[in-house]
Amino acid sequence: MALNELPSRVVVPTRVGEVPLTRRQVLQGTLAAAITAMFGLPGCATPRATTSSIAPLGFTAIPTSAADTLSVPAGYRADVLLAWGDPIGHVAGSPVFKPDASNSAAEQALQAGMHHDGMQFYPLPYGSATSARGLLAMNHEYHDDGLLFPDGNANWSAEKVGKAQNASGVSVVEVALADSAWRIVRQSPYARRITAATPCAIGGPAAGSDLLKTASDPTGREVLGTCAGCAHGWTPWGTYLTCEENFNDRFVSTAKRDDVQLRYGIRSTTRYGWEKFDERFDTAKHPNEPNRFGWVVEIDPYDPQVKPVKRTALGRIKHESATPSLAPDGRLAFYTGDDQVFESIYKFVARDRVHATDRAANRDLLDHGTLYVARFSADGSGDWIALVSGQNGLTAANGFRDQAEILVKARLAADTVGGTKMDRCEWIAVHPTTREVYATLTNNPDRGKPGKPGTDAANPRAENALGSIIRWREAGGDPAATTFRWDIFALAGDPAAADAKLKGGFSGDAFACPDGVRFDPAGRLWVLTDVSPTRLNKGEFSLFGNNQMLAVDPATGAFRRFLVGPVGCEISALAFAPDGRTAFVNIQHPGEIGGETSDPNNPRKNSNWPDFRADGRPRSATVVIRKDDGGVIGS
Ligand code: FEO
Ligand code: CA
Ligand code: CA
Repeated sequence: MALNELPSRVVVPTRVGEVPLTRRQVLQGTLAAAITAMFGLPGCATPRATTSSIAPLGFTAIPTSAADTLSVPAGYRADVLLAWGDPIGHVAGSPVFKPDASNSAAEQALQAGMHHDGMQFYPLPYGSATSARGLLAMNHEYHDDGLLFPDGNANWSAEKVGKAQNASGVSVVEVALADSAWRIVRQSPYARRITAATPCAIGGPAAGSDLLKTASDPTGREVLGTCAGCAHGWTPWGTYLTCEENFNDRFVSTAKRDDVQLRYGIRSTTRYGWEKFDERFDTAKHPNEPNRFGWVVEIDPYDPQVKPVKRTALGRIKHESATPSLAPDGRLAFYTGDDQVFESIYKFVARDRVHATDRAANRDLLDHGTLYVARFSADGSGDWIALVSGQNGLTAANGFRDQAEILVKARLAADTVGGTKMDRCEWIAVHPTTREVYATLTNNPDRGKPGKPGTDAANPRAENALGSIIRWREAGGDPAATTFRWDIFALAGDPAAADAKLKGGFSGDAFACPDGVRFDPAGRLWVLTDVSPTRLNKGEFSLFGNNQMLAVDPATGAFRRFLVGPVGCEISALAFAPDGRTAFVNIQHPGEIGGETSDPNNPRKNSNWPDFRADGRPRSATVVIRKDDGGVIGS
């Protein structure tokens, strides 16, 4: 049914329960309008900005900085909204953050987790396009025991493992704008923590597979928790996708590891120590437990009663984002990268069309479809190779008995069919009108080293320390196409550098190690950096300063520096309210210099952002950015 055919009064599922909406409200909101706003529906007019109609950037670039502060251009302000340990809701009994990190495991389960990462804004009520009230869903990727506990990882205990697991996962908080300031709505029915112990369902072709069965779950259909959620994705029906990345770091094996465990990085030691008091993380005892991580997990921020679901059809890799793009026939494609050196880029194309007016009809849409891996050819062409049982050599004789095994062993399946091995794909962004796809390849210092794969056209730098952004356009502009054309959008570095090793292949301000990449509602491209704490501000990397966020001028293609974070942080996520007048930015691991575990005896050694308390410690945090005149961010 087209929008203009809607009856004058219909009932549209909204959030918990159903609320009748008038036709006018339906036209202003609802799933159909959300899809139209997000992608443009097939056959519908798409009143969207085009590249040529976007105003050029209106801010003055800021310089690099190595200071322990967060900088934005003149005319903008940045305010901390939600830091690790802040209560997420539940006013009665809501535990406040204790600066000495003495909050208990039970208290941490009611507070924002550590190490904020991927994030998305969801307008409230569901289906509206309001920019004044909504939900923020965000990942908490990992934890730093030197900051999480007063005595670090000494006196390790079940209580400490519990707090670490509760500091992981996802937060959903309600946020509201009043008098030009955003605040957390604490007394909210939506406030929710999902931790590394929250029951999650398993959906898709691998659900129920022998490879996913464990002693505690002989069905292979339910797993406790999600962790290592790095970047994220979203759906037009208002769900959040957390993408499990370095899950392997939580597991340990004292037994001989098989090829699959080795390929996914299960090691004989781990710095997290979860297995000491939660034996499912000991793969010698529970060899299938790691098969239950490394998935894209769908969460409904509008309904806390809905169980998260691990969508196995999207494959098991170290996922970065899962970015949607709507095909002309109404099917959704999702792009997702595998963030490790010499791993690949994937695309999932759903079997069924998105239902434009019935939210519930899309509930299991991500369980059926085709997973592809990308092959970038030297002539600028590329193709998507299906990872489907019986095709392209994915047979029992080659180690893949069925589709479940292909998905659990997606990296090995990609090897079998010849997926291109990339320089660590992080986020992927889709241009809102052209559907061109931009993917960050953050770095790969091993490229071309003895015994390692050499350079290729898509990964052209030997010992690639700086990263790049690659771009492709699907055949016919169709996200479901199986061929594409690609080019390199930018080689990161300093365009003004004399040293060829540092020279950037683009115009504008210097940056290195692109990680986040996202279009704003008007089609400007934003890039977030993650120079690793071991390189940050050291040697040749000192020219880039602390990690930063830049905007790309749509008129000139030049990069312009907009934000610089505090010492040791990564700029880990960017989300916009629908009107583009509020940006939410996540600052992850301030102070992380010289290792991922801080000194509990000196927690303020490298950074004391954002509280600057004499008795505190650095905290990952969500920052709200607004323009002083209330205008569009970047304009
Ligand atoms: Fe968690 Fe790929 O960065
Ligand atoms: Ca990342
Ligand atoms: Ca990164």
